[in-house]
Amino acid sequence: MSIQSPGLFIAFEGGDGAGKSTQAARLSDALESRGLSVLRTREPGGTPIGEKLRSLVLDHGHGTIDARTEALMFAAARAAHASQVIRPALAEGRVVITDRYIDSSVAYQGAGRGLGAEGVLTLNDWATEGLHPDLTVLLDVAPTDGRQRRTAGDAAEDRLESEPDTFHSAIRHAFLDLAAAAPAGYLVLPASADIETLAAQILERVESLLGDPVPGDRL
Ligand code: TYD
Repeated sequence: MSIQSPGLFIAFEGGDGAGKSTQAARLSDALESRGLSVLRTREPGGTPIGEKLRSLVLDHGHGTIDARTEALMFAAARAAHASQVIRPALAEGRVVITDRYIDSSVAYQGAGRGLGAEGVLTLNDWATEGLHPDLTVLLDVAPTDGRQRRTAGDAAEDRLESEPDTFHSAIRHAFLDLAAAAPAGYLVLPASADIETLAAQILERVESLLGDPVPGDRL
């Protein structure tokens, strides 16, 4: 996101079972209780067409979905999300918290499916017209821990989650590489830390971004 835009754009990223949704909800509640207007959303999804694409790409039973088709489906859902939901909310000065964004495509389709980071980034820059988060919170999870957490209670794994640990390990390293390449835009935390500790660290970092300039005063 450009510094001229009002609002604050935060993305939560990490492997499956990292606890992103829990932390996104905690952050959203904390900011709302401080009087900020928050929009919580997720990818793939966030719009009617995005939710349809979500079931097409995640559910089993649609036959073979090759890597490029998969990358394009995530990018299509993201294009709608960025233009119909995220940009308008930022323009109103709101805080947007998304569960997954471009880094998920770079990690899952770029590294996991072997398409490479560069092509996937180019595709997504085009899809979003260059809309990037102000802060990405990366919850770093080891593949075996992630699998244990997401299958607790016998929850079924979706098409991506059911990939082997080697796939999830490639994804983990791709997320960490993205953070290492632009450390100022990331907060990297171990997903294994306790919920309260993580929530406090995330809120502290976000509050530092809200301090100066105040969202809404950046126009
Ligand atoms: P997620 O919403 O985190 O799953 P759930 O809430 O059902 O646990 O993400 C769905 C899956 O989609 C996840 O395995 C990661 C994958 N994914 C990609 O492969 N590329 C992407 O660009 C995105 C956004 C998600």
